[in-house]
Order: sequence, then C-alpha cells, then structure tokens
Amino acid sequence: MTRRVALITGGMGGIGTAVCRKLAKSNGNVVVANCLPGYPQKDAWLAAMRKEGLENVHAAEGDVSDFDSTAAMVRQVEAEVGPVDILVNNAGVVRDNMLKKLALSEWMAVINSNLNSVFNVTKNVIDGMTERGWGRVVNMSSVNGQKGQFGQTNYSAAKAGVHGFAKALAQEVIRKGVTVNSVSPGYVETDMVKSIRKDVLDKLVAGIPIGRLAQPAEIAALVAFLTSEEAGYITGANIAINGGMYMV
Ligand code: CAA
Repeated sequence: MTRRVALITGGMGGIGTAVCRKLAKSNGNVVVANCLPGYPQKDAWLAAMRKEGLENVHAAEGDVSDFDSTAAMVRQVEAEVGPVDILVNNAGVVRDNMLKKLALSEWMAVINSNLNSVFNVTKNVIDGMTERGWGRVVNMSSVNGQKGQFGQTNYSAAKAGVHGFAKALAQEVIRKGVTVNSVSPGYVETDMVKSIRKDVLDKLVAGIPIGRLAQPAEIAALVAFLTSEEAGYITGANIAINGGMYMV
C-alpha cells in the first residue's frame, strides 16, 4: 500500500470535510485539511475527525489567496507530514451581486480565493509531484463556471478559469505521471448554498431535474476516484456532478 499525502484546501468546509473524510478512509492516505490562519473551529473539527476514528487527518493553517502564506504552509506540511501527492483545490468563497452593484472588493475577494489560490497552491507542489513521477490535482469548479449564473460574474469567471488552468497544466505534466482535472458540482447542501435567499434557492432547486441538492459525500466520492491509482488515464477533464442541471 502506497502512503499518499493529500492536501485539501478549505478542507474544513462543507465539501472539504466530506473530501477529507473520504480520502482518509482510502487505504494509505494521510490527509491534511487546510484552513485560514486562526480558524476558530479548527480544534473542534480535528476532534470530530478523531471521534470518527480518523487518526490520519491533520490541519494546516494558511491563506491560500496569498502566495507567501501558501508557500510557508506547504513547506511546513512537507516537513511535518511529507511531500504532497494529492492536491484538491477546494477553497472558495462567494460574493454574489449583479455586476451593476458588484464592488471591486467583491470581485477581488472571489478571484483571489477561488482562482489565484489555485496558482498559489499548485505552483508550490507541482515540481515535487513531477520529480517523484506521481501526482493528482483536482480543482473544485462549479456548474456556474460552465453555464454562468445571474449574480455571479466573479464566481463564474473564477470557476471557468480554474478549469482552463487544469487543461493547460494537464498537458505539461501528464508524461510525469501527474493528472489534473476539475469537478463541477451543482448546488450542494452546504452553508454556502444555504446562505442563498430562500425564495431564490427554492426556484433554483425546482429547476434541477433530480429535484434536490447534492450531498457533500456525493462530490467526495468523485474526487476520491479522480485521485486514485485507477484514474491515471483521466486528465484535463471537467466532470459535471449536478443532478442534470446542466448537460454538456
Ligand atoms: N435570471 C433573470 N433574472 C433574474 C434572475 C435570473 N436567474 N434572478 C433574478 N432576476 C431578476 C429578478 O426577478 C429581479 O427582477 P425585477 O427587478 O424586475 O424584480 C432582478 O433580477 C433583481 O433580482 P433580485 O431581487 O434577486 O436582486 P438582488 O440584488 O436582491 O439579489 C442576487 C441578487 C444576490 C444575485 C440574488 O439574485 C441571488 O442570490 N441569486 C443566486 C445566485 C446564486 O445562484 N448563487 C450561488 C451561490 S452557491 C454557489 O455558488 C455554489 C456553486 O458552485 C453552485
């Protein structure tokens, strides 16, 4: 059994927690959940993982929207846990507003956390993966990066961008045993989605063919497959998981 170190950015959020749990249960993986420096729920989150019997889960504080903070975090993970073999670029935020009302700060917050973060983290782990001849990178994109969404020029641009990044990098590293893919969830039952105004969310859910939100574990199962040994021939792909909301 090969020991793999998996780093999940935003690893203590809705989808992030489910991905950590799933990867920690996959043979051989050691999981590192990234969170923001000083994240107040860090210890409680780790304690909950221990309670589930997951001893192989660690935490790493770092602001992935900031290059230097990210670099310092990755060096610390390498020293304390080991070099990163699996990277799940999952951290993200929303600042929904129609463009006419969208502030520059709301644009920048989403581009920094959802798109620049993918550069910041991947840049700090990719050489190690190619040198060792094995790696998996999965970017959390979104159905709204594929179809666009009213009120989300910032988020849709960032989520489309992370898959452009994946397609380009996939070509650069596949001959070194590293795959780079994106996953595009639809609306998942997380705090992020629950923060949408109820009347707006009800209308959105009514328009999803499956008629319900996704569960975080359903997204995690797909991420686990893409990061497994068996998925070595899948690269540059963007896999939709949206209950039929948008079919490409
Ligand atoms: N298409 C066309 N018109 C729309 C529309 C749509 N999808 N949604 C709203 N409108 C119209 C409204 O009917 C309204 O028209 P009138 O002025 O004629 O009444 C007008 O646009 C303004 O709409 P709101 O009253 O909703 O405007 P607001 O400023 O109060 O709110 C908003 C705007 C914050 C963007 C709100 O509409 C909203 O929250 N939308 C949901 C955005 C969304 O889906 N976010 C996903 C977050 S979760 C996530 O992103 C995870 C993921 O990956 C999927």
